[in-house]
Amino acid sequence: MKKVLVTGGAGFIGSHVVDSLIRKGYRVTVFDNLEKQVHPGGLPDYYNLKAEFIRGDVRKKRQLRDAVKECDAIIHLAAAVGVGQSQYMISKYVESNIQGTANLLDILVNTKHRVRKLVVASSMSIYGEGLYSCGKCGKVKPPLREFSGSGTGSWEPECPCCKGKLSPVPTNEDTPLVSNSIYAVSKKEQEEMSLLIGRTYGIPVTALRFFNVYGPRQSLSNPYTGVAAIFLSRIKNGNPPVIYEDGLQTRDFIWVEDIADACILSMEKEEADYRVYNVGSGRPVSILEIAGTLINLLSVKGISPEVTFTFRKGDVRHCFSDTSRIRNELGFEPSVSFGEGMKRLITWSRKAVSEDRFLKASSELKKRGLI
Ligand SMILES: NC(=O)c1ccc[n+]([C@@H]2O[C@H](COP(=O)([O-])OP(=O)(O)OC[C@H]3O[C@@H](n4cnc5c(N)ncnc54)[C@H](O)[C@@H]3O)[C@@H](O)[C@H]2O)c1
Ligand SMILES: [Zn+2]
Repeated sequence: MKKVLVTGGAGFIGSHVVDSLIRKGYRVTVFDNLEKQVHPGGLPDYYNLKAEFIRGDVRKKRQLRDAVKECDAIIHLAAAVGVGQSQYMISKYVESNIQGTANLLDILVNTKHRVRKLVVASSMSIYGEGLYSCGKCGKVKPPLREFSGSGTGSWEPECPCCKGKLSPVPTNEDTPLVSNSIYAVSKKEQEEMSLLIGRTYGIPVTALRFFNVYGPRQSLSNPYTGVAAIFLSRIKNGNPPVIYEDGLQTRDFIWVEDIADACILSMEKEEADYRVYNVGSGRPVSILEIAGTLINLLSVKGISPEVTFTFRKGDVRHCFSDTSRIRNELGFEPSVSFGEGMKRLITWSRKAVSEDRFLKASSELKKRGLI
């Protein structure tokens, strides 16, 4: 049976990919440096012991070379993951995400191996603002918003052509990319480098642009993870979820096991070679709705979301995925709805450890004038 290398395989998404690969009969090697911020206790207890584990860092080429040698396919998920944090730990994000991927590509180009497929984890953050429709001008892509201070006026971007009113529409893969953070820059570079080298050397590559991933094993103590985990940990610790702007900004949430399926499907299917796909649910959900849903499902009394009407630099107002390409080309459909996923998330969180480190993280951003 084929052997798959999963970099970052001890992480949130990676561990689900590993479980699913093993269920399907693949042999799996995990390559992960067990980054302290993500794994303060070392190898996580959910780690699947049927997967071979190599503790190594993608920034160290020699360690990575040994891991690549015996594999038939690679799912590259190892990365520093934190949009806000990337704005002040610039070298770390560039080294882990861009240089780390460059190391992997160098190995694929310059050493003997039998790798026949590389799947790389890109991100919706590379779009910046999503796609919108203007009554007069048709589909438009507004630039990132510029605000200073706080306010209660309109948070919605305006049409870049006529300054008119816009309504958000699904964002497709051809939408121009406008990075809003070093993290996004690093994911964009990773995607482009991988596809370019793949095409040049005939190594099939697929780049998957994950939208907001949520589900079991997302760290509830790492304040740089996704909004669902951050809110959950705030509420579980008796604190209100803190909401920027007016809370009506939207995101597209996708269940982590659906993401794992998309990774494996694109690894297996030739139709996915040299292609880029959005992996989202296609359904926009407001930040206020997430906070409200979590509070209701946890049945906590006396907590309501704290809406701050402040702007976090670089935040997008709306971005949700056009899912037609991956559906039409690979037959991929997410299987877990937002409502069902939120219920499953709560069930899992009752057992999970959550330390609320939100204030520490937001004070780092404030200190640097990013909120
Ligand atoms: N979670 C999301 O919503 C989301 C959205 C878009 C894209 N992604 C991408 O998906 C991938 C996985 O993200 P995740 O949410 O599972 O994050 P995660 O932090 O849980 O997992 C990342 C894993 O990579 C490991 N790692 C970090 N730096 C490394 C290095 N230098 N060398 C080796 N291993 C290293 C960490 O120890 C961790 O186990 C990342 O590439 C991320 O950019 C995630
Ligand atoms: Zn217009």
